[in-house]
Amino acid sequence: MRWTGQDSASRTTGARSSLRNRRILLGGGVLGLLLALAPSLALAAGNPPRPDWNPGAPWAPLTPASPEMLEISNLFWVMLVLSAIVFVIVAGAIGFSVFRFTAKPGQPEPTQVFGNRTVEVTWTLIPFVVLIVAFGFTVHSIHDINTPPKASHPLNIIAMGHQWWWEFDYPTLGVTTANELHIPAGREIHFHVESADVIHSFWIPRLQRQIDANPGQDNAVFVQMPRPGVYDGACYEYCGTGHAWMKFRTIVQPQAAFNAWVKHQLQPAATPKTALAALGKKLFLGNTCVQCHAISGTSAGGTVGPNLTHVGSRWAIAAGAGPMTKQALMDWIHDPNYFKPGALMPPFPLFSQKDLQALAAYLYSLK
Ligand code: CUA
Repeated sequence: MRWTGQDSASRTTGARSSLRNRRILLGGGVLGLLLALAPSLALAAGNPPRPDWNPGAPWAPLTPASPEMLEISNLFWVMLVLSAIVFVIVAGAIGFSVFRFTAKPGQPEPTQVFGNRTVEVTWTLIPFVVLIVAFGFTVHSIHDINTPPKASHPLNIIAMGHQWWWEFDYPTLGVTTANELHIPAGREIHFHVESADVIHSFWIPRLQRQIDANPGQDNAVFVQMPRPGVYDGACYEYCGTGHAWMKFRTIVQPQAAFNAWVKHQLQPAATPKTALAALGKKLFLGNTCVQCHAISGTSAGGTVGPNLTHVGSRWAIAAGAGPMTKQALMDWIHDPNYFKPGALMPPFPLFSQKDLQALAAYLYSLK
């Protein structure tokens, strides 16, 4: 059938309207995309500064820094090689059979092996032996990693998870700190991992195995670092809104440097040296700060939040949520949610700019 004029006209109109539709669709799409991205764009524009924190690449456990992680990483490679061998043999046998034994027209039914005892025993024994070997390696590693230190006096450290920060206590040394671990190289460490509220997970990916921090339970992890270095860790189990900002830094240092750190930690907080810092101290002690935080050498003795005696010497504020700067301290006190949504510390919107500067100057001076 031939096209009439009418048809051709309607075809043109159709083409025009489809072009218009396409433009509307495109415009709508771009608008929709912008609307969808708006909250993220706004959020990115107002994103607070963050301190450096680097626990290693996602394969950090495979670049071990401690003998304990080396053991785990070795076990991984043994398992990978075992699985690879099994995979190549099985996949190879399947591939070979598919090509070599594909049925051709007119061929008789192949020999059946059902009930063949030799074959059945063989293909039960092979996986059994493979699994026994894997089991042996695993038990050996678990035993090595979980064996208490040989030293009669390992250094005991309590790693206490809180929503959302880490408390580190050195019971034999009398040191209490937060979100920054110091350990001497060469010494055997016994971590007592506990929780003050919900279940957290304590992990320094390049140093030790991951372990849960359970309320009322003393979970043990052992590590002995051969060399000094800096290793970042975090909470690795969702524990509430602030879970992502429950980071900490581990500083492995020579015994002499560690002793100096301990000596410094045991000193009471520094006395303010400027009028601004002195005002900050007055404000701190005169407000509700003291109900949650302790600063040794002052009347502040709260135990709910991190001990702030030497807060100015730490790598970050708020368990890695903000950098250790006066500005970040001011912003944090004004509204902790800016750095850590869900933070349990209340905002202090009534402090004036001068008050905030004074508080930040005081806290920053607590080296
Ligand atoms: Cu604590 Cu996640």
